[in-house]
Amino acid sequence: MEQPIKKVTAKLHLTKEGPIRVEGKFFLVSLDGDSLVPDDTKEVYLCSCGASRNKPFCDGSHKSGARKRD
Ligand code: FES
Repeated sequence: MEQPIKKVTAKLHLTKEGPIRVEGKFFLVSLDGDSLVPDDTKEVYLCSCGASRNKPFCDGSHKSGARKRD
């Protein structure tokens, strides 16, 4: 279900070979519009390498060097 728009302030931290750290007040929704994290979540790590078995979240698989961002 679509989340109502509330004040959202998020900071995204990019790293060269690891996850994208998202911190702040935000919503993370699936392609179907379902919420992927509780509303009070203040930090998540998103997979940027494609190797996670728990997408969109990082599961640490990037540490194996399976795939790296350019
Ligand atoms: S960035 Fe960690 S598993 Fe992809």
